Amino acid sequence: MTKITSICCIGAGYVGGPTMAVVAKQCPHIKVTIVDLNEARIAAWNDVDVNNIPVYEPGLSEVVAEARGRNLFFSTDVDRAIEEAEMVFISVNTPTKTYGAGKGMGADLKWIELCARQIARVSKTDKIIVEKSTLPVRTAEAVRDILHNTGNGVNFQVLSNPEFLAEGTAVDDLLNPDRVLIGGDANPEGQEAVQALVDVYANWIPRERILTTNVWSSELSKLVANAYLAQRISSINSISELCEKTEANVNEVARAIGTDSRIGPKFLKASVGFGGSCFQKDILNLVYISRSFGLQEVADYWEQVIIMNDHQKKRFALNIVKDLYNTVSGKKIAFLGWAFKKDTNDTRESAAIYVADELLNEQATIQVYDPKVEDKQIYADLDYLGTRSPDLNKKGVTVSEDPYAACADAHAIAVLTEWDEFIDYDWQRIYDGMLKPAKIFDGRNILDHKKLRAIGFKVSGIGM
Ligand code: NAD
Ligand code: UGA
Repeated sequence: MTKITSICCIGAGYVGGPTMAVVAKQCPHIKVTIVDLNEARIAAWNDVDVNNIPVYEPGLSEVVAEARGRNLFFSTDVDRAIEEAEMVFISVNTPTKTYGAGKGMGADLKWIELCARQIARVSKTDKIIVEKSTLPVRTAEAVRDILHNTGNGVNFQVLSNPEFLAEGTAVDDLLNPDRVLIGGDANPEGQEAVQALVDVYANWIPRERILTTNVWSSELSKLVANAYLAQRISSINSISELCEKTEANVNEVARAIGTDSRIGPKFLKASVGFGGSCFQKDILNLVYISRSFGLQEVADYWEQVIIMNDHQKKRFALNIVKDLYNTVSGKKIAFLGWAFKKDTNDTRESAAIYVADELLNEQATIQVYDPKVEDKQIYADLDYLGTRSPDLNKKGVTVSEDPYAACADAHAIAVLTEWDEFIDYDWQRIYDGMLKPAKIFDGRNILDHKKLRAIGFKVSGIGM
């Protein structure tokens, strides 16, 4: 039986970094090397001040501090790390394609293929290759095809081991996952590879929580898990709009349905819309795959989750305009939060970006405060949309390091991220500094609306 003592992970991003740091922490007998082409990112992971690592996650810098230099290493020498490893994780980005066939729908797998080709070129000893990235079902077929045609006699096993961590809780999710999923071939070599990876996780995860399946079920389950989670959010968000018309309260509805054990209470928080790098990308991928198999109804069914989410983001922005007497031109709107959720500095597909874009189209001026997101990221997010020139984005949006300054002289505040600190602000002080009537649009339903109304704010939540 293969006992793994050396792991390489290609991709030092939001998944590769935290996942492998936890593997290294829990398995001091395994040398873990995380590699990336991005030199700045690797330099940040190696920063002497562990608080400067490039991914903000509660508890992560402590994990890195414990293992880095002991059995956890970050490097740009990809070839060497591959060659030295018995097991190679591929944890590179798989974004939605922006060109050619499948543009805007399918996953762009060019980085996956580059990794497979690099592994094929560099390897001199047998290796287990683990797909950690989220991939369309049957991607392992292409990876295998590349690896099995090197002609150099090296044997590869390809496993699927999708990651289910959520950002902001990554370390907890990795230390104590609901389950780990490993897909491998049914033949003895495949099963031996599966067992080798099971043994790595079994260092800290109870065996009954490590599920093994065939490769295709594993690849597909990842897309389906994200689609189900996102579907719950779009479902409750659709009901939030109905609540606003009927004086029902979406929080009460969510509690009433969520106490049914068959439905369950999680992922029923109505919001300004889900963001993050994966929900939209993975559902689009599922829709694209379904359509490519001619399954039109299946594709349409899942696409509705995205359509509803886009509607929710737009609706939030247009409600602000409507409530500010149908014009926000020249008005200052303060944004509390830019990250796609609390406890992360990640802004990918954040609802805040799209709400800002709508409001800028209406000539609002926006001042943003987010405790973890840097101004250059905010401008990069807006510039990426290409709606207007970078100069106009800079003109329309300013970024503040102080929430009170961000809200001063504003016509309205929009809460875009559910950061805990927003709840405890001195809201009287904020009210005193704003133009009247002072309005709050709570896109996360996190603030104490009763208290705010008592101060004098006009408050609008989602679904109430
Ligand atoms: P990321 O963009 O943060 O990181 C990917 C890294 O891979 C980048 O630093 C990039 O430079 C590097 N890279 C790309 N090609 C490379 C190559 N050929 N050689 C070396 N390095 C290379 O992405 P992420 O958020 O970590 O996501 C990675 C994968 O995990 C995606 O498939 C994603 O869908 C999936 N996933 C993400 C999350 C999440 O919370 N972000 C959760 C579960 C699964
Ligand atoms: C999600 C999944 O939860 C992870 O299991 C998965 O591994 C990951 O995607 C991935 O594949 O990338 P993540 O996007 O990090 O994790 O964060 P979530 O907690 O799922 O939140 C996603 C978005 O939905 C956020 O914008 C959040 O604010 C929003 N959300 C979440 C709601 O609006 N309501 C809810 O009830 C829950």
